Amino acid sequence: MTSNRREILKAGLLGSAVGMVGLPASAAASNGRERRRSMNLLVLGGTGFIGPHMVREALRRGHNVTLFNRGRTNNSLFPDLETIKGDRAGDLEGLQGRRWDVVIDNSGYMPQHVRHSARVLSDNIGQYLFISTISTYASYAQPNNEDSTLATIDDVPEEFSWQNYGALKVLCEQWAAEEVGDDRFTVLRPTYICGPGDHTDRFTYWPVRTQKGGVMLWPGSAAHPLQLIDVRDLANFVVDCVERRTLGTYNTVTPIGSYTFGNLLEDCQAITSSTVEPIWIDDAFLAANDVAVPIYHPISGEYAHVSSISGERARTAGLRNRPIRETIRDLMAWWDTLADERIANARFEMTPERETELLAAWTAQGV
Ligand SMILES: NC(=O)c1ccc[n+]([C@@H]2O[C@H](COP(=O)([O-])OP(=O)(O)OC[C@H]3O[C@@H](n4cnc5c(N)ncnc54)[C@H](OP(=O)(O)O)[C@@H]3O)[C@@H](O)[C@H]2O)c1
Repeated sequence: MTSNRREILKAGLLGSAVGMVGLPASAAASNGRERRRSMNLLVLGGTGFIGPHMVREALRRGHNVTLFNRGRTNNSLFPDLETIKGDRAGDLEGLQGRRWDVVIDNSGYMPQHVRHSARVLSDNIGQYLFISTISTYASYAQPNNEDSTLATIDDVPEEFSWQNYGALKVLCEQWAAEEVGDDRFTVLRPTYICGPGDHTDRFTYWPVRTQKGGVMLWPGSAAHPLQLIDVRDLANFVVDCVERRTLGTYNTVTPIGSYTFGNLLEDCQAITSSTVEPIWIDDAFLAANDVAVPIYHPISGEYAHVSSISGERARTAGLRNRPIRETIRDLMAWWDTLADERIANARFEMTPERETELLAAWTAQGV
């Protein structure tokens, strides 16, 4: 499997806006968004990377949040919230007979598990919002929108593997929709989610490496396109979809062509107050040396359009993307709060030794 495929795998009709009647004064949204009423939300998960941002945004807007998880990840994060202990892989006892306005499903990877939770909850919820991924698309050899061809899998395995991530997420979407019905179902397909709390360190590599200065390996060219979604923008859109009962499927991405690796270099240097000497290395060399470059994909072949995912439908439905420079600023502020041990064990695929080795080989090629 090429490093890019592993990258993609290891990483998305305007819903009927509900009339905003009977809003108590205090519910008047602080950011000009209309809000229906204080709602009871169940988050399947909630304590990893994206969950905490959603929970905080929902609480900030006056909603009530219940969590469902195994109590293994950051289990002291929300001590004041009810957490129902259980396991998607079979123990949903705690959800039986309970009622919520909306379920936000962050932790669905296996279709059997997602169908089971949707079936258990179906009679007692008003809306099911499923967090999927752009890895659901069958190919990136052409641009994709929400109606593009999806990945398929012949036999549904009992065990999860990143190999099948996209195809399994497609089945998660389809089986959950069968249980709750399209008139109560919302799917969000994010691309690379980045920002404070990101445990993948994929995007974080770039500002952290830039901060070190010196000669630095950059992939492709400054014009190379890049699509991302800030985790807070995703969280805002999730709560918007809940409040407006927005139904349907939405890619949550920055606009096509709005950002490049050249912009990323500028923003990283500006936020870290560092300068680097960028060495742009072409796809042929990267492929020939099987180089795993975080969040980077060559603009040819199977992944030519992985950064050409249409986000127009979500923007029409209210998704707003903040400047990536802001994301980098807040990401680095968060990074600076982390323990030395966490930083020392950062999951950066590109090591300093590997970078030096590649830069020497590239220079030796005399290009
Ligand atoms: N990161 C990206 O760039 C990206 C891109 C596209 C899509 N996504 C999607 O984002 C979602 C993951 O985000 P996240 O991990 O940050 O979500 P999260 O809701 O913040 O964290 C995952 C939660 O799931 C719970 N959990 C895990 N396995 C469980 C199980 N078997 N039963 C019950 N609860 C379980 C974990 O708690 P316990 O461990 O305590 O159970 C944790 O609370 C996935 O759906 C992924 O496909 C991510």
